[in-house]
Amino acid sequence: MINLADGKHGAELLKAQAHVWNHIFNFINSMSLKCAIDLGIPDIINKHSEPVTLPELIAALPVHPSKARCVPRLMRLLIHSGFFEKQKVSEDGQEEGYILTNASQLLLKDNPFSVTPFLQAMLDPILTKPWHFVSTWLTNDDPTPFDTAHGRTFWDYGGQEPMLNHFFNDAMASDARLVTRVLVNECKEVFEGLGSLVDVGGGTGTVAKSLAKAFPHLDCTVFDLPHVVADLQGSENLKYVGGDMFEAIPPADGIVLKNSGFYMTGMMKNVLRYSRNARKQSRTGKEGR
Ligand SMILES: C[S@@+](CC[C@H](N)C(=O)[O-])C[C@H]1O[C@@H](n2cnc3c(N)ncnc32)[C@H](O)[C@@H]1O
Repeated sequence: MINLADGKHGAELLKAQAHVWNHIFNFINSMSLKCAIDLGIPDIINKHSEPVTLPELIAALPVHPSKARCVPRLMRLLIHSGFFEKQKVSEDGQEEGYILTNASQLLLKDNPFSVTPFLQAMLDPILTKPWHFVSTWLTNDDPTPFDTAHGRTFWDYGGQEPMLNHFFNDAMASDARLVTRVLVNECKEVFEGLGSLVDVGGGTGTVAKSLAKAFPHLDCTVFDLPHVVADLQGSENLKYVGGDMFEAIPPADGIVLKNSGFYMTGMMKNVLRYSRNARKQSRTGKEGR
């Protein structure tokens, strides 16, 4: 490290400033992606059999004519981030058009593995606001920055505001669809030898539903907060149970914890208690939790 305060090291000074600026403006990457999703750009490009030229894209977008000049800037940024590429429209022509990349295919509305609901939830102001409160949260005894920003826990907020509950559950379900496909295709052996499993914090059951379908011998339980599983219908080898994982979890041979790992400490106390009870139960032949 050199002392930049004397103003003598111009190149290093600029490099250090660029480094700080990159971090200041990092959020522009995610917000530009959100803008592209809100405007439906990936789906517009996907509808064309040929690369989409800039005039074609502008014509298809609901942007005000005075803002049309901003579209190429947005696209340049998203090309840089790997969401679109440019390709020649025809062999002899000079004109170029936009095409999708692997990453932007995952942003198409109709893609069964679309991550768009996840993006929309994570970049919603309700979930970005807590990031402004991290330093305040560090100075108080609130359990999470969400509590500091909104004055209640995320789960209480979800219980009281169906809108948050829905978009968060949609987000989790979209992520679960993608991960479960990989799990079922590539990790079958993990489920061999299990008679039952409980997905703790399993949301609306996307993971457990796929596992129940892929492994019909497996009795699957989706365990989540009562307002999340209320009104959800199970099937032959799938059931929904509402409750609080910090109180008790339904007994099973295996536990799935997906995106709920941050509850690990509290949960593990229950797992240990459950294992102890299960051992006791196998000795006495009685049911336990
Ligand atoms: C990050 S989400 C993960 C959902 C799902 N496992 C997935 O990956 O798609 C965490 C889940 O834990 C649930 N949850 C939070 N606190 C809980 C508690 N005390 N008892 C049971 N479930 C809880 C939430 O309702 C939510 O569905």
